[in-house]
Amino acid sequence: MPSQPAVELAIIIPTFEERENIPLILMRLTQALAGLRYEVIFVDDDSPDGTADVVRAIAGIDPKVRVIQRINRRGLTAACLEGLLSTAAPYLAVMDADLQHDEAILPDMLALLQTANLDVVVGQRAYNGSSFAPASGLRRCFHRAVCRCRIDDPLSGYFVMRREFFMETVHRMSGIGSKILVDLLASSAYTPMLREISYHLRERAHGEDKLGALAALEYFQLLVDKLVGNAIPPSFILFALVGGGGLGIYFGLLTFALFRLRTSFDVAQIAAAAAAMTFNFFLNNTITFRGARLRGKRLARGLAGFYAACSIGMWINLKMAHAAGALGAAWYTAGVLGLAAGSLWNYGVTQMFVWREGRKRLNREVPPPNWLGTDTVEDSDCRSLLALSQRVGTAARVQPAKALKNTER
Ligand code: GDD
Ligand code: MN
Repeated sequence: MPSQPAVELAIIIPTFEERENIPLILMRLTQALAGLRYEVIFVDDDSPDGTADVVRAIAGIDPKVRVIQRINRRGLTAACLEGLLSTAAPYLAVMDADLQHDEAILPDMLALLQTANLDVVVGQRAYNGSSFAPASGLRRCFHRAVCRCRIDDPLSGYFVMRREFFMETVHRMSGIGSKILVDLLASSAYTPMLREISYHLRERAHGEDKLGALAALEYFQLLVDKLVGNAIPPSFILFALVGGGGLGIYFGLLTFALFRLRTSFDVAQIAAAAAAMTFNFFLNNTITFRGARLRGKRLARGLAGFYAACSIGMWINLKMAHAAGALGAAWYTAGVLGLAAGSLWNYGVTQMFVWREGRKRLNREVPPPNWLGTDTVEDSDCRSLLALSQRVGTAARVQPAKALKNTER
């Protein structure tokens, strides 16, 4: 066994539509990291421009380069997590593909991490650049409270960390949105040892930035999850906010129909409820459950299911309010209890039946790998793998070939 790790530093680069930037960033990394044993792992969300194919073509001739291509998935943080978990390197860097992050400071970041025995070193965007304004005192205090450590630029997407720190933290991370550093720091069980190195954020080389208005919403969701996520699922909070908007529409339309159009109460109520439910459905489809967003035929079926579930929810609401009223609750307490019961029903049922993830097609039993129970793996190979797996301290999944031959599968 070599005493030094085969790869010292892994650089994880999330990509979506970055085809032109791939060769550029690799060339720059080659210059900046001369003399280091490193690998570059691109995690691409099936970019329509063929970014993953470009990386694969380069990976075919350069063993330092790898690609993880994710299908039907989006999300910068989630993509990075998969890249970070796919490497054995003791030091892990995250950076963007668009050349905005200055790769020249990467060796300094790594050296500081090693010599000062830190958990994380952050590339901090310099304040005098044109494209970036410093956070105000209040915002900085808020971020420090969320991250529970001293940091000036927690929204930076450029940092290096020790793998032990990452592995200790990753199971508590939310994996929501694009602010991976906030997620990481806020999820740590202890105050991370952290320093920042400042650099000038460059202009994007090619293509466009992908993180738009949705990124702000996802950041809000991440903050909520970090602050109260252990008690309430963040999608419920979004569902309730959307429901609040629907309630506003419902009362608005109800009064409009009753007092302007002078319809009967029944007509006004049915029209207002239908409009509010439709509004809620489409907003939940694009925001709350965007990970399982329905399109085409499934959209129509989902809308019908949503109407049905919410109609039952309305009935539960009324029943609950009546029951509370009969027990002597004031009208507003009865109203709130009814609303809470109806909303919980709507949330539970629609997330389970309307926005369920597509059923897995491969649910039959997968045959065991063909080397199980055969002689193709040499005993000596197995013994050294076994010794290695035992040293790692986890339950050994690799058994000697002899034992495997006797195992009925
Ligand atoms: N795999 C994957 N999936 N990659 C993505 C996705 C996605 O859904 N969205 C964006 N990316 C990739 C981009 O291709 C790019 O390499 C990187 O993530 C950053 O995306 P940009 O679209 O360039 O974002 P930005 O410039 O607005 O923000 C970035 O820089 C900020 C400042 O450093 C992000 O890193 C922010 O987190 C960061 O705060
Ligand atoms: Mn960018």
